[in-house]
Parts: sequence; structure tokens; C-alpha cells
Amino acid sequence: MPPTAVKFAPSILACDLTRLGDEIGAVSSAEYLHIDVMDGLFVPNISFGVPILEAARRSRDALGTAQVLDVHLMIERPERFLEAFAQAGADSMTVHVEATPHVHRCVQTIRALGCRAGVVLNPGTALETLRPLLESVDLVLVMSVNPGFGGQSFLPQTYGRVRTVRGWLDDLGSPAELQVDGGVSAANARQLAEAGASVLVAGSSVYGPQWEGRGGAAAGLERLRAALR
Ligand code: DX5
Ligand code: ZN
Repeated sequence: MPPTAVKFAPSILACDLTRLGDEIGAVSSAEYLHIDVMDGLFVPNISFGVPILEAARRSRDALGTAQVLDVHLMIERPERFLEAFAQAGADSMTVHVEATPHVHRCVQTIRALGCRAGVVLNPGTALETLRPLLESVDLVLVMSVNPGFGGQSFLPQTYGRVRTVRGWLDDLGSPAELQVDGGVSAANARQLAEAGASVLVAGSSVYGPQWEGRGGAAAGLERLRAALR
């Protein structure tokens, strides 16, 4: 796919939560809105959960856009909460293969709840883990940092991992999205697109302080898009 067809998923982990509605409005032209749920167990940090997703859903609905609420579940045994997040307004839910022995069942449950189902791999997880799942998912997320925090440095081995997964998806004729998350910026967006990513998650490069007084998150998103032109 041409780099300009790549979609964006701004991550509200990096936004100003006191202005959540405005921060979502600023990136309403992005195809996805990424919501990072952390439990302090699967990852060494706690972020937010159902109430913030409900608030994001209300903001998205008030804007009247078709933006996909993309919930990245960095939680142990995500099967415990799939129904709650679906009810709270998720359109898409992504579970870590490292977080449960029942990833495939999670994927089935997510779809039965009417959501798109994704699976995600940490940087240290063998890509082969994905193989049995590839035909059942709507989205594969390749982490380009160790999950838990925004603002970390992009791991360059991600390019090769993305190329491999892209090859597998193409061989299967799969329409699944291939998402990359962590340290995404204007410096690596084009190379990720060329490696085969179709959705780029971006926290700091969209919502970071560098855009304060310079157009805010809308300018951050536009900078990323410009990197692909
Ligand atoms: C990290 C989260 C990311 C985070 C990315 O664990 O999964 O979605 O928001 O933030 P940046 O783009 O700042 O690396
Ligand atoms: Zn994420």
C-alpha cells in the first residue's frame, strides 16, 4: 500500500486528560483513537480503564465521526474484562499474547461482542506465536517499545518484525491491519509504512509539549501525515 494510505491512531495516554474532549476533537480526522489500558501487573504502570473509555466514547459520539475506538489492553487475563470494555464503548480490542493462555478464546469473545479483535506481541516475543492466530484476527499489533509507558525510544528491530508479519498477512490474503505502537514519530513513520505497517499509533509525537502554542495535537498529527507524503 502507498505510505499515504497509512492510518493513524493517536494515543490519549499522552494527552491532557483535563481537556479530554478537546484533545479527541483535535485528532478527529485520524481513523483510530488509541486507548491504553494498564493494570500495574502486566505492565509496571497503571493508566486508566472503563470510565475514561466511556468518556472518550461520549466525546467521539458527540463529534459524530466514525473514528474507531481502539482499546489496547495491557492487562493480565484480559478475558475478565472484555465484556466491560465492549459495553463501555470499544470498537476494537487488542489483547497481548503474553497476558493469557487463552488468546484465541479472547479473539472469539471479542468478535462475539461485536468488536474487531486484535492481538499484540511484545518486542521480546517470538513472532511465530502469531501464526495460529493470523486467520482469526482483524488486527495485529507489533510493539516497538516494551509496553507500559509513553515517550520511550523506538526499537529499530521493529522494521524487520513488521516486514515478516506483512509477508505472512499478504501470503494469506488477509485484510487484517498491521499496527505499530511505541516511539512512532515523523522520523520513522515512512520507514514503518514501507515495511508494511498500515496503522501507526502515536502518543508523544501527537500530544507532546512540542506542539503547545503551535497548533496542538492537530499539528502533531499533520506532521506525521506530512512525513508520509
Ligand atoms: C505504551 C503504549 C503506547 C503509548 C505510545 O505502552 O502502548 O500506546 O501511548 O506512546 P509513545 O507514542 O509516546 O511512545
Ligand atoms: Zn498502546
